[in-house]
Amino acid sequence: MNTTPPFIHPTAEVSPQATVGYGSKIWHQAQIREDVHIGSNCIISKGVYVDFGVSIGANSKLQNGVYVYHGATIEDGVFLGPGVILTNDKLPRAINPDGSLKSDADWQVSPIHIKRGASIGAGSVVLPGVTIGEYAMIGAGTIVTQDVSPHGLVYGNPGCLHGYVCRCGQVLTRGQDQSDYERSDTWFCPACGDHYQFQS
Ligand SMILES: CC(C)(COP(=O)(O)OP(=O)(O)OC[C@H]1O[C@@H](n2cnc3c(N)ncnc32)[C@H](O)[C@@H]1OP(=O)(O)O)[C@@H](O)C(=O)NCCC(=O)NCCS
Repeated sequence: MNTTPPFIHPTAEVSPQATVGYGSKIWHQAQIREDVHIGSNCIISKGVYVDFGVSIGANSKLQNGVYVYHGATIEDGVFLGPGVILTNDKLPRAINPDGSLKSDADWQVSPIHIKRGASIGAGSVVLPGVTIGEYAMIGAGTIVTQDVSPHGLVYGNPGCLHGYVCRCGQVLTRGQDQSDYERSDTWFCPACGDHYQFQS
């Protein structure tokens, strides 16, 4: 187990009510709000914003300029590319119908859940209430409007399922092996040879 104390760059702002795990690094101008929990060995890059109460599992990487809003849960080993935004308010308004400023009690959080090993490409936006399955891969610039199945390869606007990816990150090929590409529910990894079953 890594027992190195976390590194926090002098320009980062980490709430005294946040917890940061062993070996994690928090870089320039990142802001980590109260009641955030960051697991061990995470990399929180320059300019990242993590809203209050968010939980981030061990070995996760949040690249420059990621914004994670209240209600998000990020499991272990998650990759969020530069500029990814995890949202939380499906029907946002600054003011009530009477023109008064909305308070924290005047709107509803729809939580986002990013499961173990999933990756989200640069500049993607995840809409409120979405769950992204284990080891899914979201392409750069995707607007993720619906839940993504485990190992799902999703890209576009709105994001659509285009296939599946291996735990190692390679795009999977349909079939048992190179000579059996007709089988509909078995997929294999041309890089590491792992097999998976998905119902399409
Ligand atoms: C989504 C992704 C994993 C797809 O990889 P791939 O399956 O090898 O894709 P290919 O390059 O073979 O492209 C397949 C098709 O999808 C399109 N495509 C690929 N990525 C796309 C994306 N992010 N959005 C929209 N279309 C995309 C290609 O234009 C191509 O279309 P075509 O068949 O009409 O020519 C990859 O393109 C991607 O976006 N990776 C994330 C990169 C990133 O943000 N990294 C962050 C660290 S800097």
